[in-house]
Amino acid sequence: MVGVYDSGVGGLSVWKELVALMPGQDYVYVADSAHCPYGEKSPEYIVGRADAVTRLLLEKGADAVVVACNTATAAAISYLRASYQVPFIGMEPAVKPAALASVSGVVGVLATANTFKGSLYRDTVMKYASGITVIEKVGRGLVEAVEKGEIPRGLVRRYVDEMVGEGADVIVLGCTHYPFLEDEISRCAGPSVRIVNPAPAVAAQTMRVLDGHVSGTGTRKFYSTGDTAVLRSLATGIDPSLSPADFETISI
Ligand code: DGL
Repeated sequence: MVGVYDSGVGGLSVWKELVALMPGQDYVYVADSAHCPYGEKSPEYIVGRADAVTRLLLEKGADAVVVACNTATAAAISYLRASYQVPFIGMEPAVKPAALASVSGVVGVLATANTFKGSLYRDTVMKYASGITVIEKVGRGLVEAVEKGEIPRGLVRRYVDEMVGEGADVIVLGCTHYPFLEDEISRCAGPSVRIVNPAPAVAAQTMRVLDGHVSGTGTRKFYSTGDTAVLRSLATGIDPSLSPADFETISI
């Protein structure tokens, strides 16, 4: 069984790619929505939450965990790997494919403040984006809107205009909540700007880590530390066969 974890509903954008690749796999998803957003909380706080959620996922039977949150990956993946036996798959800042795809030599990355502070992001930029101008845009307010099931058109317009105005011809979705705003981001950016979503690559990496091993019968269970309404609506949009009984609020 694959455990999937995010600060909230955003990790569903990764789960969508996981089920597309491995539909027969069992999945348990935890949205830490009562403690979302993680974007500007302390690394210690995020490690504490990642630890509590991981314990729950293991208790529910996960034998691999996808940390479907760029912010939690940045703060906690080293701790998790050092603390538990199961494999952890984290989010990769998709700076390399973005740098390769850019013609203008300017790439925009939309992510949380904590993701930009992490060494994973900094190392990736150093390694793959030399000679490229990387515009780092903190998507303040976007995660909160997606958690409410809203599309914050004004904020999206502002962040996209700022990146495109500086010449970006590729925009990286550096937070797993943002694919739920992809249509709006794309509409604001226009047809000449490419949007890079790392979720398919993370799903493919998960399949490699599992080595083709599908452990289950296609069960799905979703827990949230907060309200399940938006989680249910987004997940059911991805898999219409889900039923209300698949969703539960849990206190951890
Ligand atoms: N989905 C999380 C990410 O990928 C959102 C972080 C937050 O809670 O601010 O970074």
